[in-house]
Amino acid sequence: MVSVIIPAAGQGRRMQAGCNKVFLTLGGEPVLVRTLRQFARVPAVSECIVVAGAQEMETVEAMLRAADAREGLPSWRVVAGGSERQYSVANGLAACDKEAEIVLVHDAARPLIRPAVIEAVIEAARTTGGAIAAVPEKNTVKVVDAAGRVVETPPRSALWAVQTPQGFRRETLAAAYAQAAADGFLGTDDASLVERLGAPVAVVESDYQNIKVTTPEDLVIAEALLKAAQEDR
Ligand code: CTP
Ligand code: MG
Repeated sequence: MVSVIIPAAGQGRRMQAGCNKVFLTLGGEPVLVRTLRQFARVPAVSECIVVAGAQEMETVEAMLRAADAREGLPSWRVVAGGSERQYSVANGLAACDKEAEIVLVHDAARPLIRPAVIEAVIEAARTTGGAIAAVPEKNTVKVVDAAGRVVETPPRSALWAVQTPQGFRRETLAAAYAQAAADGFLGTDDASLVERLGAPVAVVESDYQNIKVTTPEDLVIAEALLKAAQEDR
């Protein structure tokens, strides 16, 4: 059994839309609804825990009920988030079915995730215990010090740009979140918490279309990618 946590409790500040960016429409449907629909296409997924801002829980529930009536969504529930993504995911994890062997975490703001990538992450999480979707880094990346001077140029061949979904055995993720809370550690992704335990995390090659809708231009790009994907079919 696979549970999916979908953090949607951010404020979308960098989008500057005056509302949570996951409520903005993409191809005529809210970003959050599009994200959930992708999980409906993966039979192994048995529940989606949508984590919403405490003030937005009713808005999210109404949005999902309406979308569900139009076209079935996977089984979903809404729980309250926290002030940081990590706290939102922790709340989602506490609400997951204890029967779930695998838990995936996927940003609500990544609506273009393909079902094949979700399936590959589930498979690798079963085998390795932890797995993350990622793409080879396209840019040369430099380490820069506080004075703005280049310190180092890590070889690009070793660099991967990490996305979601990130999937783990439920006990591993729960242990990693408990340890991070005990240590007051705040990571920038879920895998970094698991890595601190010394547990292995496999990289699953994803695709460049799985962008995180973050700034206004990302919405333009996402619309174009969606259109291209629909023309492909
Ligand atoms: N998220 C969350 N709880 C938070 C912060 C973020 O559930 N306290 C979610 C967002 O809703 C998003 C995902 O985590 O789906 C990735 O975060 P990000 O892209 O940073 O979204 P926001 O925090 O909403 O955007 P910004 O940082 O620009 O304010
Ligand atoms: Mg954020």
